[in-house]
Amino acid sequence: MDTRVKVATAFDLAAWSAGHLNTVERALERWVTADAPAGVDHGAPAELVEAMRYAVLDGGKRLRPLLVMAAWEAVGPPPGSTGEDQRQAAVRAACAVELIHAYSLVHDDMPCMDNDVLRRGKSTVHVKFGEASALLAGDALQALAFELLTPDDAGISGERQARLCRLLARAAGSGGMAGGQAIDLASVGVALTESQLRDMHRLKTGALLQASVMMGAACGDASEMALSGLDRYGAAIGLAFQVVDDILDVTADSATLGKTAGKDATQDKPTYVSVLGLERSAAHAQELLAQALAALAQSGLPDTRALQGLANMVVNRCS
Ligand code: IPE
Ligand code: IPE
Ligand code: MG
Ligand code: MG
Ligand code: MG
Repeated sequence: MDTRVKVATAFDLAAWSAGHLNTVERALERWVTADAPAGVDHGAPAELVEAMRYAVLDGGKRLRPLLVMAAWEAVGPPPGSTGEDQRQAAVRAACAVELIHAYSLVHDDMPCMDNDVLRRGKSTVHVKFGEASALLAGDALQALAFELLTPDDAGISGERQARLCRLLARAAGSGGMAGGQAIDLASVGVALTESQLRDMHRLKTGALLQASVMMGAACGDASEMALSGLDRYGAAIGLAFQVVDDILDVTADSATLGKTAGKDATQDKPTYVSVLGLERSAAHAQELLAQALAALAQSGLPDTRALQGLANMVVNRCS
């Protein structure tokens, strides 16, 4: 089955994304500021806030926020409700996960990690603001993510807030992104097996993408069957995302990527391309797409077209 043709004719992903991207962009612009989300002046140092805004605004595909919104929409509001409170929760979750992602990129680019000078088409945060500011901007973005998830002036129950915080904390911590990054750094020059590589990618990148899906679902009231399908969908696209990132590092150029191409080989990082080769890596990404679509089909959710479109985008993207 050619899933690309099917998805492209069935659903206009660009039109669907445009509205959500606009909402998320405006929310990030409002929340990443010297003021607390509630509007109280924190008295935060201007340069730190400038570095945080530089790291987050005007760039990035915003895939993780789109996954949150798509999963929330797929679950849908409870019967008889407009779901406005849940929509507010989903926008907060979408921004929170993007803040964690942006922080992970700031730290990933630092000299002690990948030592990159280009990100999202501009100088990396440590190049522009210095290493200490980059470190602190990342720290502050992480804290802000959890502040966004715990408002006292929005109609989100304490239980739902706690569930969202738990999902995000697990995905970002030592059993997720940070742990995967530690394995990545310890694996330079090491010939990993495919299974070790898969575990590393699942942690460093997959966990946060999977959490994006599950956080979207946690903003609604999903059945066990829906949660199980979404969880498997998230796991498949989460891994596929890093497989494709490894491929693009070899096949795309820096201008298209907005980051330095060819870094993985230069730095002797084990990747899907170094372990499986380009052709098998590309085939594996397509297998993971098929797994993701099958999981959606088994979720019992009535309309998963946005999630299907995003899975297709993850695997068939050019940047
Ligand atoms: C890059 O993520 C880092 C990885 C996890 C591989 P993205 O490709 O989503 O980066 P942006 O957000 O679009 O810049
Ligand atoms: C980074 O993986 C994953 C993160 C947790 C940020 P990479 O090091 O491959 O990401 P890029 O290629 O620099 O975006
Ligand atoms: Mg890295
Ligand atoms: Mg990197
Ligand atoms: Mg990469």
